[in-house]
Amino acid sequence: MRIDVHFTPLGLSPGDLSGRGIVVLDVLRATTTVITALANGAKEVIPAATSEEAVRLASNLEKDGVLLAGERKSVKIEGFALGNSPLEMTPEVVAGKTIVLATTNGTPALVAAQGGDPVLVGAPANFAALTIRARQELADRGELVIICAGRERQFALEDGYAAGRLVKALKKGLGKLELNDAAHAALALTGAYDGWADAFTGAAAARQLAEANLGADVAFCAKPNRFGTVPQYAERRIT
Ligand code: MLT
Repeated sequence: MRIDVHFTPLGLSPGDLSGRGIVVLDVLRATTTVITALANGAKEVIPAATSEEAVRLASNLEKDGVLLAGERKSVKIEGFALGNSPLEMTPEVVAGKTIVLATTNGTPALVAAQGGDPVLVGAPANFAALTIRARQELADRGELVIICAGRERQFALEDGYAAGRLVKALKKGLGKLELNDAAHAALALTGAYDGWADAFTGAAAARQLAEANLGADVAFCAKPNRFGTVPQYAERRIT
């Protein structure tokens, strides 16, 4: 059995991913936000690669049922109903709605993973359920691809750490796994921090969020196993 980690989606082509089991991680904050929105009753989340694409996709949908959401430099995009905060995705706001989401790194990574089957959305928020689902995928197919969104086309500590935690959790009970170099590095990272919150403290994304007065989001994203849902991205929709 084999696990490949990619620290950014750069360099991956649809052909590399077609039909393979994939987990996408952008734990600060896009994948945490998607999981929270769906766990709180959103009908679906449509990830957009750009804010312009989000506006275009939303304009084709029933106005009353859609919410535009997204950020640039952590801050809500002007004219959008919501930012990219999981704390905004309350049942009162999102229940029954389609959310079209455009973020800097996370939603482009999801769009890049299209073609995978399944494409699972992961974060600490659904970590236990994600591990069970990903283990099943590994057992059925013999391989799994973990794609980190990264940050501005570079490695992001919070996603690399999350990838390592997932590799570590999957190794338990599955015996010997073949890992690519990034998976070995991610696994080694898990020993360098004392849990999710500690790993996030050193991350540039967490600093940017704190500077934007969004420190509460970092704390929310660092708390594991809030939800038992593992969203899946297929045919342009996450449900
Ligand atoms: C992203 O997609 O780059 C992030 O989720 C940024 C953020 O809103 O914190």
